[in-house]
Amino acid sequence: MNPRFFDFRPMYEVSRPGLLRLLGLSRTELDGFFNELGPIHRELLNEVGHVASAGALIQAPLLYVLVRATEPQWVVETGISSGYSARLALEALARNGHGHLDSIGIDVFALGQPGEARPDALAGRSVGWLVPPRLRSQWGLIIGRSEERLPALLGARPGELDMFLHDSLHQYPVMKAEYELAARALRPGGLLLSHDIHASPAWAEFLAHKELHEAEELDHDLGVVRLPGSATGGLPTSPSTAQAPPISPPSA
Ligand SMILES: C[S@@+](CC[C@H](N)C(=O)[O-])C[C@H]1O[C@@H](n2cnc3c(N)ncnc32)[C@H](O)[C@@H]1O
Repeated sequence: MNPRFFDFRPMYEVSRPGLLRLLGLSRTELDGFFNELGPIHRELLNEVGHVASAGALIQAPLLYVLVRATEPQWVVETGISSGYSARLALEALARNGHGHLDSIGIDVFALGQPGEARPDALAGRSVGWLVPPRLRSQWGLIIGRSEERLPALLGARPGELDMFLHDSLHQYPVMKAEYELAARALRPGGLLLSHDIHASPAWAEFLAHKELHEAEELDHDLGVVRLPGSATGGLPTSPSTAQAPPISPPSA
């Protein structure tokens, strides 16, 4: 059971300096997006308790902030499992009022996965079960290995992707291939994210090869870098976020 699932604030506070550099927002604006997570967090705790943290991208709340701040039209992630990262990305897209997420992953619940945490509470669940019906209209669920499904998905729309997240198999060949495919598909100024960036040399090699010197590491292993081009540093200040209160107290 991961304590970061019960209180999102520590991971946000350690990540805030990097998020501010990356997004070019004021602290008030950024905290406003984070504070929106209070009701979402309470709903998740009521629905699933500790189960959501099993095998999940525990930094998914930071993904919520990034999606709210950059308002992407098209997001692609690899690695679905229960769908915790998908749930929080989709909550943000729904709040934005536009945008689509495609998630590619093995159906770990149908196949089983060596080493994957399988609490009894997951018996009978299907891949992506954390995504409720109300969020599925903005979601494409693609079952399969990223090696097989990602080239066609990204190759069909080069330069149109706004955000990519690697969270599938954290092994060198898969990480390297996903970064390369994503870099070709991302628009100028698009965001590339990767979980477990220290699992192999692939992230460091990719940054060096592409001469991307302004990558951030959020919450100790979530890498994020903006591709060169017409960077849009987040939204202009809006009335709803300009007066954001200090970070909310714990909701649990
Ligand atoms: C860390 S989990 C993903 C967690 C998910 N992002 C979340 O927040 O709930 C990684 C998942 O990737 C899947 N996976 C493993 N190898 C894969 C591959 N080659 N392509 C796509 N998915 C893969 C595993 O079955 C596992 O469920």
